[in-house]
Amino acid sequence: MKKKLEEICNRQVEREAYSSNLYLSMASWAETQGMSGVADWMYAQADEERVHFLKFVKFINERGGHAIIPALEKPPVEFKGVTEMFNEVLHHEQFITSSINEIVTMASADKDYALLNWLQWFVSEQVEEESSVRAIIDKLKLLGSHNMYMFDRDIMSMRTAGEATPQE
Ligand SMILES: [Fe+2]
Ligand SMILES: [Fe+2]
Repeated sequence: MKKKLEEICNRQVEREAYSSNLYLSMASWAETQGMSGVADWMYAQADEERVHFLKFVKFINERGGHAIIPALEKPPVEFKGVTEMFNEVLHHEQFITSSINEIVTMASADKDYALLNWLQWFVSEQVEEESSVRAIIDKLKLLGSHNMYMFDRDIMSMRTAGEATPQE
């Protein structure tokens, strides 16, 4: 794999690892607010991001590069509320989508078809992730902040309904 492709894949290693920590921080905050359903959703999301992080690590090394395990920026600790937090999740996932798209563009320009093919899983995964977070935000709008109990109770069922488990 070309050096600049290895570098941009290592940038994604860092971003997926940060995503995992960000959602872990959101899980911890939700737990302190007594919202165990939201916390479970965020813990599960953090696990998924760790899988993405490891996928990039292993792929880089498999291609003869060297995956670098980065130091991570500290994620936010406090959140204004559940709606604000999920808006942040959507915003972050949109950032990750554009980050993946940048790698696709570069792989395509460099005719690295193996990388391009491998990235397709992430392209589809980002569609899934954005749509599942949008569904949650819609539900929040529907319920309003006075119905947080119901939202917290139901959120995990939305996850199992709308999401494919990541496979190799
Ligand atoms: Fe991810
Ligand atoms: Fe994600």
